[in-house]
Amino acid sequence: MEPILKVHGVCKAFGGVVAADQIAFELQPGEIMGLIGPNGAGKTTLLNLISGIYACDSGEIVFDGRDVTGMPAYKRARAGLARTFQTPRFLQRSDIRDNMLLGTDLADQLGYWKSFTGKKGTSFEDELADLMQYVGFELDWEADISGVPYGQRKLMEIVRAMLTHPKVMLVDEPAAGLNRKEVERVVSLLNYAASRGIGVVLIEHAMDMVMNTCHNILVISFGKVIGYGTPLEVSANPQVIEAYLGKGRGLNA
Ligand SMILES: Nc1ncnc2c1ncn2[C@@H]1O[C@H](COP(=O)(O)OP(=O)(O)OP(=O)(O)O)[C@@H](O)[C@H]1O
Ligand SMILES: [Mg+2]
Repeated sequence: MEPILKVHGVCKAFGGVVAADQIAFELQPGEIMGLIGPNGAGKTTLLNLISGIYACDSGEIVFDGRDVTGMPAYKRARAGLARTFQTPRFLQRSDIRDNMLLGTDLADQLGYWKSFTGKKGTSFEDELADLMQYVGFELDWEADISGVPYGQRKLMEIVRAMLTHPKVMLVDEPAAGLNRKEVERVVSLLNYAASRGIGVVLIEHAMDMVMNTCHNILVISFGKVIGYGTPLEVSANPQVIEAYLGKGRGLNA
């Protein structure tokens, strides 16, 4: 199978700090790849480079067969590169429905105002209902986003990313601050995304979740790749244990 995302020799420095140093990896459609490493390793920076929020100093990013290295972030998003943020980002003082429609190509396709009237039976409604089965709670679509608890917002951010019909989804610490039940829901949403052929890059510090959910894991430290492989391989890699996992933090820890 042809990879959906290829990252070749990507570099990025902020002054003297090299946040990405010759990073390379490939992601297949339907693959969940974990991206792990210590605080400040360069994980979020790498997502910013892939999604186009930062420009690469050198290297290239090929997405869906196209070189997107110089493409602006909004075009990459339209082409099917979706992402979520370490801290959920929503339009304040707007209802949940508006927030779900934000930035989606569906908003364009269906006509924003048409969807806004709340007509049932649109593909947007059907798709949202489908996705909501995985999040496991009911929402009042007219309610203001500010009243939605943190854990539910984190889940809604993934739902919103999926509504853009992405080919690749970049998720930054989706389980941070969530309880066990909510983490399970994040995992079921990500597995559902992968089952629909979406390639997922998952940054996460919750090791049991990473080890049990990811097909492969890329480990970075000080902007450099220090390990790559299956969860089993990575958790047995001495360099990875030394830099990040420590003893007893690997598989099934
Ligand atoms: N916009 C920026 N300007 C200056 N330095 C930055 C910028 N963004 C990131 N950095 C630096 O790059 C390095 C990598 O940061 P990054 O946020 O990518 O780490 P991370 O692996 O996501 O960490 P965490 O696990 O804490 O989220 C850090 O030293 C950080 O201070
Ligand atoms: Mg980060």
